[in-house]
Amino acid sequence: MSSHLSETKRRRSFAIVSHPDAGKTTLTEKLLLFGGAIQMAGSVKSRKAARHATSDWMALEKERGISVTSSVMQFPYNGAIVNLLDTPGHADFSEDTYRVLTAVDSALMVIDCAKGVEERTIKLMEVCRLRDTPIMTFINKLDREGRSPIELLDEVESVLGIACAPVTWPIGMGSRLKGVYHLLLDEVHIFEPGKNFTRQDSTIFKGGLDNPELIARIGEAALQEARDELELVLGASNPFDADAYLAGKQTPVFFGSAVNNFGVELLLEFFVEHAPSPRSRDTLTREVLPEEEKLSGFVFKIQANMDPAHRDRVAFMRICSGTYTAGMKMQQTRTGKEVRIANALTFMASDREIVERAYPGDVIGLHNHGTITIGDTFTEGEGLSFTGIPNFAPELFRRARLRDPMKMKALHKGLAQLSEEGATQFFRPLMSNDLILGAVGVLQFDVVAYRLKDEYNVDASFEQVGVATARWVHCSDEKKLEEFKEKNAANLAIDAAGELVYLAPTRVNLQLAVERWPQVRFSATREHA
Ligand code: G4P
Repeated sequence: MSSHLSETKRRRSFAIVSHPDAGKTTLTEKLLLFGGAIQMAGSVKSRKAARHATSDWMALEKERGISVTSSVMQFPYNGAIVNLLDTPGHADFSEDTYRVLTAVDSALMVIDCAKGVEERTIKLMEVCRLRDTPIMTFINKLDREGRSPIELLDEVESVLGIACAPVTWPIGMGSRLKGVYHLLLDEVHIFEPGKNFTRQDSTIFKGGLDNPELIARIGEAALQEARDELELVLGASNPFDADAYLAGKQTPVFFGSAVNNFGVELLLEFFVEHAPSPRSRDTLTREVLPEEEKLSGFVFKIQANMDPAHRDRVAFMRICSGTYTAGMKMQQTRTGKEVRIANALTFMASDREIVERAYPGDVIGLHNHGTITIGDTFTEGEGLSFTGIPNFAPELFRRARLRDPMKMKALHKGLAQLSEEGATQFFRPLMSNDLILGAVGVLQFDVVAYRLKDEYNVDASFEQVGVATARWVHCSDEKKLEEFKEKNAANLAIDAAGELVYLAPTRVNLQLAVERWPQVRFSATREHA
């Protein structure tokens, strides 16, 4: 096998989907420990410590260096190269969080066993659905009292509409937690708090739940409970089916406790074995296969002036085919411009590093000064444009207020440029001179206000506005569209890309509009042009 092919096959690029506090940061840290990236685990921690102070954008800015490093974390495990793409979650939640999910080949859903399926998880899963992304599930915090495992699986199935195939099963929970049973390996891993659970230093009983030594160790009562539960569950669910998993129809489920490092290695072993290597990707003209020799990739995230001294921006590009080598020439499809990339960043080890080679599934960071935008495709010359890297409808809206009316032009420019980075969007209503900013995370308004002042010298604030949600509107019948525009002008706006958007004052209003105008398509996402 050529090195390009074998390197591609061993890539596993994924992201974690979870509600804040379910344990994403803790689990990330443990996964990195298994991957030997111990220093990285340290920076994940410091990033987390920073999150408590993030109501203040200055504090966030100080942490930006760290957040870049941990935007993509690469580590080797069992012969695979794992790329974990961070999904900003707490105060730093933004549209980027959604878009990261368009750049991975699979996802890991983390659920708190006491809380079950929570709101943020539901939203992120909707995004995974757009591409039928394969999902594995880790049910966390088993060392605490939670809901019954059967009830949790039922909830995943009914709320998220995906079949569950348990791979491990808990024996007890909370203070009664004894271990987990691995259904496919037919072995029990004993829970021993305080130990670092690698295979070597955990106690494992082979031969199922009836092994007399196991019974002697943890008692018959706990095992009987697990046997009863399993009988019920296995009667009602399907066993793990690799094809159903890869089609996004079934999720293998693991139980454990991230903070105790318990059940994590079982998850990682299974993940590396079954999670997909880079998959083919659609462009406007054809499907691109990862094994193709020529380089191609798309930009899914832009992070601005990470280093305040340099004011640079880094564009995160996911490689879809070919091999990146330092110093190679690439063409940006949108502009037709050729660029030589000598100093792309990679995210192995504890610091940003200059990468020599990168393969499909990897992410590289391209320095840029505002010439790269989200959704941009880079190739070795072929005019490809990847699809499936959309804008997502914002859920929060604010009207910009300017202190000095003379700065209107600068405000326009600032909002337009900041929205190009993709964390916020900017709308101009047809019927007024308002400037409306949309975001999915509330901190983004503070970030924009701060950056307008800092980078554009514009003093602006953001106030409440009566918009509940937005939809991009399309209609193939021009006459109908004109009629629609006339009747709904008060609720229509133009986004930064010049597309028509319906700004609904309430959800009910949107529903009525959708019913009243069946010829008009209301879309919650917009593809980049
Ligand atoms: P997030 O990134 O998904 O937001 O979650 P994070 O890992 O920060 O975990 C949220 C809280 O849950 C943390 O507690 C963390 O220690 C705890 N936690 C994570 N995994 C487990 C687990 O398996 N069992 C138990 N009992 N707790 C777990 P915290 O009090 O917010 O922070 P800290 O002071 O413990 O660091």
